[in-house]
Amino acid sequence: MDCLVHADALAWTQAGQARFKTNVFMKLIDADYVVVGSGLAGLSAALKLAERGRVLVLTKKAANATNTSYAQGGIASVTAPDDSFEQHVADTLDAGAGLCDADVATKIIEHAPVCIEALEAMGLRFSRSEDGAGGRYDLGREGGHSARRVLHAGDFTGRHIQDTLLDSVAKTPSIRVLQNHMVIDLITTGWIGVDGENRCIGAYVMNSESCEIMAVRAPHVILATGGAGKVYLYTSNPDVATADGVAIGWRAGVPVKNMEFIQFHPSCLFHPEAKSFLVSEAVRGEGAKLVDVEGVPFMNAYDERGALAPRDIVARAIDSEMKSRGVPSVYLDIRHQPEAFLKDRFPNIHSTCGRFGIDMAKDLIPVVPAAHYCCGGLEADLNGHTAVPGLYAIGEVACTGFHGANRLASNSLLEAIVCAHELAASLAEIPVDFDGAKYTIPDWESGDAVHSDEAIVVEHNWNEVRTCMWDYVGIVRTDKRLERALRRIQNLRGEIRDYYLDYLITPDVLELRNIADVADLIVRSARSRHESRGLHYTLDYPEAADNPVDTVIRDVAGQTHPSHESIRAGR
Ligand code: SIN
Repeated sequence: MDCLVHADALAWTQAGQARFKTNVFMKLIDADYVVVGSGLAGLSAALKLAERGRVLVLTKKAANATNTSYAQGGIASVTAPDDSFEQHVADTLDAGAGLCDADVATKIIEHAPVCIEALEAMGLRFSRSEDGAGGRYDLGREGGHSARRVLHAGDFTGRHIQDTLLDSVAKTPSIRVLQNHMVIDLITTGWIGVDGENRCIGAYVMNSESCEIMAVRAPHVILATGGAGKVYLYTSNPDVATADGVAIGWRAGVPVKNMEFIQFHPSCLFHPEAKSFLVSEAVRGEGAKLVDVEGVPFMNAYDERGALAPRDIVARAIDSEMKSRGVPSVYLDIRHQPEAFLKDRFPNIHSTCGRFGIDMAKDLIPVVPAAHYCCGGLEADLNGHTAVPGLYAIGEVACTGFHGANRLASNSLLEAIVCAHELAASLAEIPVDFDGAKYTIPDWESGDAVHSDEAIVVEHNWNEVRTCMWDYVGIVRTDKRLERALRRIQNLRGEIRDYYLDYLITPDVLELRNIADVADLIVRSARSRHESRGLHYTLDYPEAADNPVDTVIRDVAGQTHPSHESIRAGR
């Protein structure tokens, strides 16, 4: 009997393995610019750079599977006559709680109108107000803004932006988009053993359908990979948001900054079947109150700005209400607005709530906070340049100093497009004199790696990293919780590393490795901040320190540089 069970199990294993794809090394592609990511930052950069050379865009799923596509709120930009750049900068710095770079904020905010024009020139239509015979925008209001200044396209802003950009890309012959291609690690001259300045010259890339591997070689590699929401168990982000850019940039030697500042969006729909669905802050901008189950508003007890206080304050207040009352959610109440208005202004939210049996005009909407935006990231300047020449970071993957300790609502799409344009302008100044042939890229070698017969480890560790981050590194932190998280994440990283080296790799393993590396960076950053500021709130140090400083992690805590041990190409 034992023997039969064993034979049976073996047959199952072999049948399972026959379905596995192998990591055959296929080819080398040369380009002038490689852009990793196909959201607003990546495609805006690609379109600008295509004026000067061949652009290869790599995106790990379909080209429209991006955080951008999910953005509901819109883009903050000063357009109203009674608003001003100074006021938008002041609101940004106020939300950022002492850690914004005022010069960066001023430049980004002043560049906004030009970028809005560029999107409109591509065909994007922002919503206009009915009485705006002169073509005035219908401006939304969100938390922390002292004026209405958010341009939107209904509540489908991101989707319209994504479609508009993809249409333009499709008409641009010098851009090639490879969908279902995921970067494994970057290739630097230091790693291939070339003397002189260490620079980025390309990447190893996996076809996420076949698991075949190829290399790309280029003088300029731009990371525009978006967010890190999937590091946490509950998030507003789509499945692609696995912090890939921060992880691969970090492994290539770029310092990371302010990773402890994870923004939790106060209002994700609370329903067992509504995966990650956001109820935009713009709903509060149209007067929705945050209330308890009896319909009693509670936000004014926490902040005089009520439900439109900055997100860190609102998310913490909700967390406190839920924990002190022992309830699974709080509610949004927008029943004062007529049905017709809600349908017109929030078609997506209205119909999604309706699908789950919630009528926005008549019912309270159950909401909970969820991980939404990573304010830290790869240290980069306004032009996206990082400490590693040839490697750039734009959009959510970067930390430019714009968001400080807490991002102001609808400033993220703004940063993504402005920094993409600025990066392209800065690269136009650099002559393309890169002789790729000088650099021999080693073939990917799988060594002794075999097909995994225990992929369950990936599933298990995936859940464990995300649960650990949610439980111990969430909205309210303590030294003890962070210590616990550090121990667990470091154990998990060890297991994941062994798994990565022992078995042929798959996209799931790559994503797991990335979320675990970034979880570690978040915990280490949080542990080093001995104060509460912006999105980092700890019961052990509840006050803000007098002199705010950035958290920058420059080394890898005495370990061997990970890219040296983890890229398995022969040399
Ligand atoms: C929202 O619509 O509430 C999200 C906007 C943002 O995160 O900036």
